[in-house]
Amino acid sequence: MPETVLWPEFVDTTDRAEHERLALLESVFDPFSRAGLDRLGVGAGWRCLEVGAGRGSIAFELARRAGAANVTATDLSTRLLGPLAESGVQVLRHDVLRDAAPGEFDLIHCRFVVDHLPDRRRALERMAGWLRPGGWLLVEAGSTAPALSSSPVVGRAMAAANAVLARRLGTDPAWARSLPLPLEAAGLAGCTAHAEAPPVRGGSPLARWLRDTLRLVDDAVLADGDLTRADLDRAAATYDDPSFIDYTWLTVAAWGRRP
Ligand SMILES: C[S@@+](CC[C@H](N)C(=O)[O-])C[C@H]1O[C@@H](n2cnc3c(N)ncnc32)[C@H](O)[C@@H]1O
Repeated sequence: MPETVLWPEFVDTTDRAEHERLALLESVFDPFSRAGLDRLGVGAGWRCLEVGAGRGSIAFELARRAGAANVTATDLSTRLLGPLAESGVQVLRHDVLRDAAPGEFDLIHCRFVVDHLPDRRRALERMAGWLRPGGWLLVEAGSTAPALSSSPVVGRAMAAANAVLARRLGTDPAWARSLPLPLEAAGLAGCTAHAEAPPVRGGSPLARWLRDTLRLVDDAVLADGDLTRADLDRAAATYDDPSFIDYTWLTVAAWGRRP
């Protein structure tokens, strides 16, 4: 099996389309993440770490709640995090799997990061070790269910994209469905989870984000040979069609605290 690559080798973070895809991701999923922070009562003075911060919307939210001086945001690529650094948040180019502890925290949050890592267990154990006693780890992950799609071509495209992500990055699209058990295995206590399977309505922001995520891998999908360009175009058009409805996207949040 070929070696996996790191995210910035897989995705061109300088690309305008990727910037827009991340902005769309934030607009779709920030309410879900903010509800998770509300649940834990994240507020003034909490020392917070955002791992794999992307464009930084949740790190901004943590700064709003806890104070910018209490927030650290990491990513393999900090290219999109300039405005966050200017706001007073500490921004670090940092690999969650390899680099030294970036501090000690009352809250560590990450969204759509651990599910894409080749060694998820190591990532969770490391983050659990960066918590203060009583500190929380809040992990969010996504999962698709291609076999359940209401559109055969969307289902096939989704399955093909999952295969590319698994091979190139080490992504496990089913990992979210095992939460919160991996947090317990990492030694955390009081672990629980919450999941939402929102309607994927053609033309909605969620459908457009799924369409753009498919585009991210379409060259690799074509190279695999299971789908044609016409198939991928039909899948993209389906995501834009308001008469399309699907329930194949699941977002899971899981949290637990250091004893
Ligand atoms: C799907 S994006 C999600 C971005 C952001 N968490 C959000 O939800 O808006 C995954 C992010 O994780 C980062 N990432 C991937 N592997 C990482 C690693 N080993 N250490 C730190 N960050 C990583 C990527 O660079 C990318 O910004």
